[in-house]
Amino acid sequence: MSARLSSIEVRPITGSIGAEIGGVDISQDLSVATIAEIRRALLDHLVIFLRDQEITPAQQLAFVSHFGEPDTYPFVKGLADYPQITPILKLPDETVNFGGIWHSDTVYLPEPPMATVLYAKQLPPTGGDTLFANQYLAYESLSVPFRNILDGLTAINSAAKGSAAQTRSNRVADAGTGLAAVVLEAAHPVVRTHPETGRKALYVNTGHTVRFKGMTEAESAPILDFLYRHQIKPEFCCRFTWRPASIAFWDNRCAQHYPVNDYHGHTRLLHRITLKGDKPY
Ligand code: SIN
Repeated sequence: MSARLSSIEVRPITGSIGAEIGGVDISQDLSVATIAEIRRALLDHLVIFLRDQEITPAQQLAFVSHFGEPDTYPFVKGLADYPQITPILKLPDETVNFGGIWHSDTVYLPEPPMATVLYAKQLPPTGGDTLFANQYLAYESLSVPFRNILDGLTAINSAAKGSAAQTRSNRVADAGTGLAAVVLEAAHPVVRTHPETGRKALYVNTGHTVRFKGMTEAESAPILDFLYRHQIKPEFCCRFTWRPASIAFWDNRCAQHYPVNDYHGHTRLLHRITLKGDKPY
């Protein structure tokens, strides 16, 4: 008799990153085996997508809690009854989209979130896709001598970097926690080792990284600018087109993301939960 090996379907959407997961209804209780398969799919594909999940905030929180401990976002208040759920909102009269720059989430924290789960509530008629980029491949595709240099470097990451700070300005204005961005800064390795897969990934990003430790911004800029261009090559990326009730669940330790801002005049609202991570090494 053959044993059933898997209860979920995993369909890669590119050759480098991203997979759609089928056969799961996260509003229902999930078995330990199913949760383990979803985690395996996340580790293998860096970002996973689930469609047609009709869930409440409580059910989103319950699902996410199978994979780690939900955290709060430092700058914008969460939902009144669910402080760990941050509304990711752009209104019709706004031109700036939240997080609208390539980044990994809140790397200016000493222990940045391991993962983020975004749930689509309201979408524009077209547009508002999110891109993801594989930072294992970004690292592995560099020459060995250059990798050796990067392996020895530490990056300073700041919440106050203007380009990213501006993307949260509308939500800080209407639902800010009062925390000043300037106080959040963290030093992390430029190349981090994933604590679960053991693989090395590039861990700088244009949204938050300001310089290498021990160097000035001007000294750091040529290499950082090269890395910012390199790490989002189309070969490392996938693009996810949202539908209402879709979920994207990504691993911040090895993937970056970029929400496309091509839907002015329309509302886009998603519910975001991040999961606590550990200190990068
Ligand atoms: C984010 O950076 O968390 C927002 C991503 C998105 O809106 O697609």
